Amino acid sequence: MRRASALPASMNAWVLEQYKTPLIKKEVAIPQITQPDQILIKVKAASVNPIDTWLSKGYGNNILSTWRQLEKGSLQSVSRLPLILGHDCCGEVVDVGANVKKFKISDEVIAVIPGTWQGTHAEYVLTKANAAAPKPIKANYVEATTMPFVACTAWAALVTAAQVNPNNASGLRALIHGGSGGIGSAAIQMLNAWGAEKVVATCAANNMEYVRSMGGIPIDYKDHSAKDRLKSEGPFDVILDCVSSDLAQWSDNVMKSWKNSVHVSIVSPLFGETDKYGIPGGIASTALTFFQRACTFPLNGRWFTYAYFWPNEKCLNQISSFIDNGRIKIPNIDRVYKFDEVPTAYIHSSTQDVRGKIVIDVAGDDLLSAGKEIADDPFLTPRVNVI
Ligand SMILES: NC(=O)c1ccc[n+]([C@@H]2O[C@H](COP(=O)([O-])OP(=O)(O)OC[C@H]3O[C@@H](n4cnc5c(N)ncnc54)[C@H](OP(=O)(O)O)[C@@H]3O)[C@@H](O)[C@H]2O)c1
Repeated sequence: MRRASALPASMNAWVLEQYKTPLIKKEVAIPQITQPDQILIKVKAASVNPIDTWLSKGYGNNILSTWRQLEKGSLQSVSRLPLILGHDCCGEVVDVGANVKKFKISDEVIAVIPGTWQGTHAEYVLTKANAAAPKPIKANYVEATTMPFVACTAWAALVTAAQVNPNNASGLRALIHGGSGGIGSAAIQMLNAWGAEKVVATCAANNMEYVRSMGGIPIDYKDHSAKDRLKSEGPFDVILDCVSSDLAQWSDNVMKSWKNSVHVSIVSPLFGETDKYGIPGGIASTALTFFQRACTFPLNGRWFTYAYFWPNEKCLNQISSFIDNGRIKIPNIDRVYKFDEVPTAYIHSSTQDVRGKIVIDVAGDDLLSAGKEIADDPFLTPRVNVI
């Protein structure tokens, strides 16, 4: 293993000791590389996604603990607490496992963290080398942090689950429910970059301009004419639900028939149902819900599926190069918080009052001067509000 020589023994991290209690800033040991495919990252910035606040309340604990237990090969149940949350970051590689060829010490990377590992709301984080990609050159580290988790979740839905990919998306018509959110806006941009014919997205009236700026055709889901608009924009090859709603379910009516069209949802009942009924009961109940939802789809030559976040190297590499070549924009950054303000960032993230991304500036470098580096690029003008 090759480790940066001057690493301290401990780091600051925001730790959740019990679900539904406030995060506590603590000094904890820096994670150690235990597998040859791992890298240790000094976190410069990390995003706060709505899912982080849900997880801090215990959402998904049953399934994630069981998954962790399986990973550890333990016969006894495994507690995830104390837990450091945070799914993605931009930072600098400070240690690499013996098999890692792709990165070396001091490389700047964007990365996601496997769902059961300790997260990025800390000064250092461990991940797999194939869950990271070179940082885009044309984005500063706060901007580069906006995409990894949302892009990997959109990729899991569109590419892994729905089998839409950069090579077959040309000419597709897509509909995204929840297009103004983190994952929805990433999906809009990815589909456009892959050559989709059109990407229609439902959102609130006050987010229509934002969806348009991301390359989507916005439809206000509260407007009485929303269904007529969807009929006139469709029929669609692929529908992605980033929100569960009556309109999302109704939109089965605007899917193409006998064209292998697909309705994919990232709002799966699995986490909630396993929390409520335990693992066997929750999986059975999710399977039943899936069957009730999916059973009629084959009658029209269509299909339905759920999708879950998964780290994806190809996705991260593509996002990095798409940002650099201008095919993907940095989404709006609603607010940048300092590392000491992580609890406030969580409270903000759990409100309806977020347009775009919330980012933690862990390194605390001068963001505005970092932003100036790219201010001349009309495509990547910084949109950072530092408080
Ligand atoms: N399966 C997985 O692995 C996975 C991973 C991460 C997240 N998720 C889930 O995916 C969902 C989206 O996550 P996110 O991070 O993108 O959340 P987000 O940023 O909060 O986006 C959700 C968006 O939905 C919009 N919305 C609310 N009601 C709507 C409706 N009736 N129709 C259309 N849009 C509506 C909201 O904006 P407006 O103000 O425009 O309404 C909001 O921006 C969450 O439910 C999350 O739990 C799943």
